[in-house]
Amino acid sequence: SGPRHLMSIADVSPAEFTSLVRNAAARKTAVKSTQPPLSLTTGLANKTVAMMFSKRSTRTRVSTEAAVTLMGGNPMFLGKDDIQLGVNESLYDTSVVISSMTSCMVARVGPHSDVANLAKHSSVPVINALSDDFHPLQTIADFLTIHEAFPASQSGTSSLGLEGLKVAWIGDSNNVLFDLAIGCVKMGVDISVASPNGYGIPQSMKDLINSAAQGVSSPGKLLETNVPEEAIKNADILVTDTWISMGQESEKKKRLEAFAGYQITNELAKRGGAKEGWKFMHCLPRHPEEVADEVFYSPRSLVFPEAENRLWAAVSALEGFVVNKGRL
Ligand code: CP
Ligand code: NVA
Repeated sequence: SGPRHLMSIADVSPAEFTSLVRNAAARKTAVKSTQPPLSLTTGLANKTVAMMFSKRSTRTRVSTEAAVTLMGGNPMFLGKDDIQLGVNESLYDTSVVISSMTSCMVARVGPHSDVANLAKHSSVPVINALSDDFHPLQTIADFLTIHEAFPASQSGTSSLGLEGLKVAWIGDSNNVLFDLAIGCVKMGVDISVASPNGYGIPQSMKDLINSAAQGVSSPGKLLETNVPEEAIKNADILVTDTWISMGQESEKKKRLEAFAGYQITNELAKRGGAKEGWKFMHCLPRHPEEVADEVFYSPRSLVFPEAENRLWAAVSALEGFVVNKGRL
């Protein structure tokens, strides 16, 4: 059988997801406090990681390049104007050729089928660096951030001890939400999603998120509403993302109108009845329409640790899927 790929958090069991997050935490501590272990700093020695990005990126690009460098390898950034992919060459040909010369492909694409097809024909692990459907590296970083902010209520090998927490997602139902919701269900964290009519979770994605509960003793529950206050009730963490994802720029006017009233503010959190110590998360890049400065730059906000945690998530995913060949 071929290499194991990371397309979505749906691909990993609760125990494997837990281990990806715990390893990210362990690597963060090791690199910051002492000499990093040799296995980390040489794990990718003499290896090249191809980074094929058809869209812009700050965090994913910088964290992946920095992680590969930290691990002794060579990150090779291939932007959309650098290679033949999509313009002059098929996904199949590109995947066979690039995987014959490198140890991993990290790819940011539009349609999820693009990264799935790269993986299908690749002889090396492929890591999804954001598709229209999923953002697994973000979800690993987000759970590392939650793990740091909310001391575990219990410990175990198949979960992070976060059972009983509630996340409220206020805004668009998008790629970042889908993997976050799958992670929440697997970790026993409830997630309430408030989106305007017409911007809810597609049925097939809802089925996938709910199927993440299989085999989990106390899975998190997914709830949906059009009323932000309802989602916010008793939430520990309020989360949002841009209302206009990359590729949706032409819908900007329509979307700004549809999402009016969904901006996260202190007043909305209060009206909705968020828990007293509620925290705020956002994967970034952020625009002021989805969250007010008073929240985004407040002590409640975890956004900058969350962004830094992308580095440790990338280290952990590269160790798990490339160095350890998918034995997580
Ligand atoms: N959060 C995230 O993926 O950011 P970039 O688009 O800057 O990589
Ligand atoms: N939902 C956003 C996330 C960017 C990291 C997008 O797809 O553009």
